[in-house]
Amino acid sequence: MTSLDSRALRSAFGSFMTGVTVVTTRDAAGRPVGFTANSFSSVSLEPPLLLVCPGKFLSSFDSFAGCTHFAVNVLAEGQEDVATTFASYKGDRFARVDHGEDALGNVLIGGALSRFSCRTHEVIDAGDHAILIGEVQAFTHAGGRGLGYAGGRFFSLGLERAALEPADGAALCGAIISLGDDVLLEKTDAGFRPPQVVAQDHENTRTRLVQELARRGQPVTLGPAYSVFRDDAAQSSYFLATATGASDAFTRCPVREIPDQTFASSAIRDMMMRFAVETRTRNFGLYIGDARHGDVHQPFERT
Ligand SMILES: Cc1cc2nc3c(=O)[nH]c(=O)nc-3n(C[C@H](O)[C@H](O)[C@H](O)COP(=O)(O)O)c2cc1C
Repeated sequence: MTSLDSRALRSAFGSFMTGVTVVTTRDAAGRPVGFTANSFSSVSLEPPLLLVCPGKFLSSFDSFAGCTHFAVNVLAEGQEDVATTFASYKGDRFARVDHGEDALGNVLIGGALSRFSCRTHEVIDAGDHAILIGEVQAFTHAGGRGLGYAGGRFFSLGLERAALEPADGAALCGAIISLGDDVLLEKTDAGFRPPQVVAQDHENTRTRLVQELARRGQPVTLGPAYSVFRDDAAQSSYFLATATGASDAFTRCPVREIPDQTFASSAIRDMMMRFAVETRTRNFGLYIGDARHGDVHQPFERT
């Protein structure tokens, strides 16, 4: 037995950026069962093998450990709700998502980017999980982008790219930095705002934002894009971030006190009010629009 801190280890494992799959099979009564998994890996082309690791904590573990067939469905961008259903919904998960059955009797999820229908090759016991290796019998692959997962959050490359798309005029890039239950703000004559930099171009914006914050004395880990909007002449892109050290570079504001603050613009106030609400529900969306009108896209859950 080792004495590693398992919470810290889980968080370090979670730093590996992955896609998201839903793995399905049938229980002894023939009913479909499934769970969300990011432990998927391709293994071999000849023979065609893949693996996924079901945890022994799964209510469906026995079904997966003893299955003769199973399917891996790689989720597409926009399928956060499917991922969340198969990660946490306790009722009939399949009643909530479009699905079908293939010639092998495997259950395939509608709208998935690719779907691998497998015959079980081997099940290897591995600590608190098993390694389920499948031989691919058939597969589908639609074009498009996959749903991403990193640091406990879903992300979409399409939306991240939209946040970084070239804009005419000035481009501002900022970070909504969490430090415990506080958020770090910069004081300006007009009011508070999240720390920001003026981006010269859209190359390496994220890296430059992190470097600039470190230069100002505030090291951060940058998360997904949170809000992209055009305010007067400038395009503003804000990212979620976590402080990796305390410093007095910025003002600490408890998230619950956000409604009491004066912000530098109404667009920043709207964004910070949304952040205050979403911090409570742990459901963060990405806003794309202008200072007044826009949409919050594809909520993702922070676990
Ligand atoms: C992004 C993501 C990836 C996951 N990956 C795995 C995994 O690889 N293996 C696993 O056993 N559980 C994984 N889980 C957790 C399971 O999906 C979750 O525990 C399961 O759906 C619970 O099902 P149950 O209520 O039937 O026990 C993951 C959850 C999420 C949100």
